[in-house]
Amino acid sequence: MTDTPQTPKLELHLHLEGAAPPAFIRDLAKRRHIDISGIFDADGHYSYRDFPDFLRVYEAACTVLTSPQDFYDLTLAVLEQSAQSGVIYSEAFLSPDFCGGGDVIAWRDYLAAIEAASRDAEARMGITLRGCITCIRHFGPEKARQIARCAQETAGAFITGFGIAGDETRFHPSDFTYAFDAAREAGLGLTAHAGEWGGPESVRAALEHLRVARIGHGVRAIEDPELVAQLAETGVVLEVCPGSNIALGLYPDWASHPIDRLRRAGVAVTVSTDDPPFFRTDMQREHDRLTQAFDWDDAVFAGIAQTALGAAFCDTATRARIAKKLEAP
Ligand code: ADE
Ligand code: ZN
Repeated sequence: MTDTPQTPKLELHLHLEGAAPPAFIRDLAKRRHIDISGIFDADGHYSYRDFPDFLRVYEAACTVLTSPQDFYDLTLAVLEQSAQSGVIYSEAFLSPDFCGGGDVIAWRDYLAAIEAASRDAEARMGITLRGCITCIRHFGPEKARQIARCAQETAGAFITGFGIAGDETRFHPSDFTYAFDAAREAGLGLTAHAGEWGGPESVRAALEHLRVARIGHGVRAIEDPELVAQLAETGVVLEVCPGSNIALGLYPDWASHPIDRLRRAGVAVTVSTDDPPFFRTDMQREHDRLTQAFDWDDAVFAGIAQTALGAAFCDTATRARIAKKLEAP
């Protein structure tokens, strides 16, 4: 395998709990006497059959994360791994649903722990983290309102975004306009998972009803040339996670993944890992595979890093700081 050099990377689409190493979750389960042995295979990796099963395994893993200290440890472990892959700036999806069940008071305690780990990681490893609060689509619009309230209450220098993840085939974006309007009013950047398990119409609906600047995945826009042209013209940024799409069976292999076709059509694409241990990937591996599949060179990756920098939901001072690191890594 040809290894691309460790160019500085920005990652915009990473689920904090989804980045939990299986050993971390297994160890917590053991200490808490919770039996989740069924979610691992014989080699200790997460084991799932398809996307609905992935969500089930993901949520089972989350049941062992029960205290702010767990999230401090998790955040530090995840940032260590990201930094090893050359990531200098990361935006993580944070789910109050899995941090005290969406209660605002509990959420503040969990958030304080995540922020403390972020500060410690930045001091030790130079990696910057920002949080994007995320509601879970299949938990429904009422729950999403509650999560939007958590976002409104904690928006600031660290919490800079709001999004929606989960099962895209459930409910409709118009069911979540209240939550997204509230997050927009709080000054948060907006993103929505769409065009992964739903087709182009799902991307159109997210853009129309949620008025997001970024789309999580969005790759199935490729099925509609008019939508591709619209994305290119309006500069909506796609948080593409190719390894995730392939591991979950959306595309059979790297050669058939549409990221290169989208990029060539002028769509602003970025590269992320989504839930790296679930898909046995990391940011360096994503870069290596893209180099192999599409002959991407340093100039392409540098362009993608600039796209991610422009689309990051951080304040101007942070963006300028990261820009300097990109100029002189
Ligand atoms: N939550 C974690 N990973 C996800 C994915 N790939 N799609 C939707 N929701 C998710
Ligand atoms: Zn995701």
